[in-house]
Amino acid sequence: MTDFSPQRLHRLADERHTLAPAEIVALLHAQDHDLKALYAAADALRREKVGDNVFLRGIIEFSNYCLNDCAYCGIRAGNQAVSRYRMPPEEIIARAEHADRWGCTSVVLQSGEDPWFTTPRLCEIITGIKRRSAVAVTISVGIRSPAEIRELRAAGCARCLVRFETSDRELFARIHPDETFERRIQCLRDFRAAGFQTGSGFMIGLPDAPLETLAADILYATRLDLDMIGCGPFIAHADTPLAGTPLLADREIYFKTIAIMRLLNPLVHLPATTAFDALVRGGRDRLLQMGCNVFMPNLTPGQYRAQYQLYPGKPCLDEDGAACAACVMKRVEKLGRLIGRSPGHSFKPANLSHPAPDDDLGL
Ligand code: SAM
Ligand code: FES
Repeated sequence: MTDFSPQRLHRLADERHTLAPAEIVALLHAQDHDLKALYAAADALRREKVGDNVFLRGIIEFSNYCLNDCAYCGIRAGNQAVSRYRMPPEEIIARAEHADRWGCTSVVLQSGEDPWFTTPRLCEIITGIKRRSAVAVTISVGIRSPAEIRELRAAGCARCLVRFETSDRELFARIHPDETFERRIQCLRDFRAAGFQTGSGFMIGLPDAPLETLAADILYATRLDLDMIGCGPFIAHADTPLAGTPLLADREIYFKTIAIMRLLNPLVHLPATTAFDALVRGGRDRLLQMGCNVFMPNLTPGQYRAQYQLYPGKPCLDEDGAACAACVMKRVEKLGRLIGRSPGHSFKPANLSHPAPDDDLGL
């Protein structure tokens, strides 16, 4: 039996390296009083370790071209129903500049695996952003070589997001056939070696992923010692091979996963990811009350949004960046939380010790 006393839940962070998957599964089964205790402990630990600030990281989905054919993803190469777009570099830079004005202290540049956006091109965009605004830049474009990663770092980008999707190698091979799990993890290591603050995570509720797999994912993400962990529900897209996969019957499992992530990773940045709003109305607001400290307003210009549907039901398709940012601010303030005014660097001091020219680490 798992002990759900506040003292025991608080101690989990110290025990995370020795926790057995079965103990995580027991936490994932929490109900009623225990469930409330789990969420309250995650919220209390968040307040104690990373404070009341909510950092706004605006996401700019700058291209939906993708070479890959991931079985789960709505913008996979094989989906002919998607009209493809690329934002012109100047438009991406202008969006980042707006982000700064809209209260986002960092931006996430995200796309499919699009070879048109070569590393030199990405570096130009990053340099352009740095010239015109103070925002920190996270890159989320999939895999790049170690030399390319160093170029991105030298251009002033200091954060990355590469999700490992699932720690079950066999499942990974089936749903992400164009690259290996090991390659993706190596890429994450290459980013870290180049001085990046690293972000990764996984999808919750993939098909053929019982609670034991979810527990292994939670422990794997914890062992990676990340600066940011982004996890969200897997939501089946009709135009993919995984169409029709049902959501988990117990919707709370998605939320419990995030609360446990906080308990095992006291100093991590934990975003309330967009897919939670597709799962249930107000999903992201709930997450901010059970361990999350980051919110990601969608800053993709309105005309592109409908074409960047990784999963159905994505919120705010008809809004623009300014409206999204304003709405997010209201949501955060309503919860009695503060908007983070700094770039929201890693809370792990050792991960900030890699100097690089023209970087975004200096506060
Ligand atoms: N192409 C880059 C990569 O693969 O790292 C970045 C963009 S990728 C489209 C962003 C993330 O969306 C993926 O890592 C995956 O976790 C998530 N995603 C894709 N399809 C999804 C779905 N159907 N439901 C939930 N999340 C999904
Ligand atoms: Fe584009 Fe998976 S479908 S990276």
